[in-house]
Amino acid sequence: MALFPSVQEKAQAEIYRIVGPDRLPTFDDQEGMPYLRAVVLETLPWSPSVPTAHRALSDDVYNGYFIPQGTTVVLNTWGMSRSTKYYQNPSVFDPERYLKPEPELDPREFVFGFGRRLCPGNELAFQAIWIMAASITSSFKLKRTVNDSAHLDDDVNRFNFEFLNVI
Ligand code: HEM
Repeated sequence: MALFPSVQEKAQAEIYRIVGPDRLPTFDDQEGMPYLRAVVLETLPWSPSVPTAHRALSDDVYNGYFIPQGTTVVLNTWGMSRSTKYYQNPSVFDPERYLKPEPELDPREFVFGFGRRLCPGNELAFQAIWIMAASITSSFKLKRTVNDSAHLDDDVNRFNFEFLNVI
């Protein structure tokens, strides 16, 4: 929120509209606040927090690559988050990508892993982040420190690496 003041302002305006000034948000407010939900979603791929590795139980071939039994396969979550196959301008922090008539890929499809060992805490994690984000955003205006005068507008270049098209 400190890096993207315009996002914070929109989220606060939405909370104010739905919750008002006299109480904290509750889970019952979630449905009425699609922008805040999209903000929380956008934090997940913007800087993926958990690396995932699986071990091949048997020999396998994937896209022409031979993967011997016992190989540790590391999932490139960050690469998926920056893939232009799934996202337009993936390095831009843009919650509205999930609010379009045809929303871009829900990042919960990959940030929580895949298959049998998929994170069993994914819904709890999303809801816990949501209620924290809702409570903090409704109560505080987050800003950079006074000494950080470098970026006073949205810091769109903070994670602006080359886009990947290979995933
Ligand atoms: C934003 C928060 C979280 C992220 C990004 C995350 C991500 C992940 C990922 C990527 C895996 C590996 C999945 C795989 O191997 O395919 C995992 C596994 C796991 N997660 Fe989470 N997780 C989060 C929060 C939580 C929470 C809140 C809990 C429990 C309350 C939890 C419990 C677990 C457990 C038990 C596993 C191991 C599952 C297994 O190996 O069968 N996680 N998580």
